[in-house]
Amino acid sequence: MENDVKTAAIVLAAGKGTRVGGEIPKQYIEVAGKPVLAYCLEAFEKSSIDQVIIVSGEDETDYIEDEIIGPYGFRKVADVVPGGSERYFSVLNGLKTLAEMDGEDTPDYVLIHDGARPYITKDGVEKMILAVSEYDAAVAAEPSKDTVKITDDDGFVISTTDRKVTWQVQTPQAFAFADIYQAYKQIVEPLTEGNGKITDDAMVYEAAFPERKIKLINLEEENSKITTADDLEIMRLRFEK
Ligand code: CTP
Ligand code: MG
Repeated sequence: MENDVKTAAIVLAAGKGTRVGGEIPKQYIEVAGKPVLAYCLEAFEKSSIDQVIIVSGEDETDYIEDEIIGPYGFRKVADVVPGGSERYFSVLNGLKTLAEMDGEDTPDYVLIHDGARPYITKDGVEKMILAVSEYDAAVAAEPSKDTVKITDDDGFVISTTDRKVTWQVQTPQAFAFADIYQAYKQIVEPLTEGNGKITDDAMVYEAAFPERKIKLINLEEENSKITTADDLEIMRLRFEK
């Protein structure tokens, strides 16, 4: 029955934010008096997601409990678990946490989201939940505004892609839980060190299930990632009045 379908979110906050720089990782920097991480947690809290797992740095779990979950009253956060040295190891830890829950709490679907993408809204989350229940694999994305070229290692053009079929992918990346967990166990768990080539969750799914389809969903709203200090400045301009 539709009502029994359970959906979880894994929110990633185990990165160091080296490109933004500064003392603390970007997801904990305050914008308009609120840590960047709290923005997306608010969207998940308001949405029909059943539970949220936060993946953070090992020594950051207390801070998240005391300074974010407590004060903002995020009731849906079921656990805060340590991440790994690469984004995909952090995701694997989040997936394992969900897999180890009591049978009845294991989700049917999971949305994997970058804690550094603060603009996601409740509506955006709902669109992804609908999409994943229809397609089993759905990824937030935006049609490429610029023409994209493929180059060699020295920056010389090899070919030009058709802009009509070129997208920039974002998060949430949403999957049937059993499938993405199986894919991560098959592709990511055997890796001993970072290979640098896996840059999103869909790639893991593609590698495990080459014959399956992944639907890209244009959320048609701002959903960029805080990557550089400039991005943080833009966020301040938007939220600090
Ligand atoms: N992330 C994670 N675990 C890692 C690396 C990244 O959970 N080992 C998370 C980040 O916290 C972020 C998201 O994945 O929410 C996207 O990664 P990115 O923008 O690259 O963040 P950082 O790795 O923190 O930044 P940088 O690459 O500049 O160091
Ligand atoms: Mg990174």
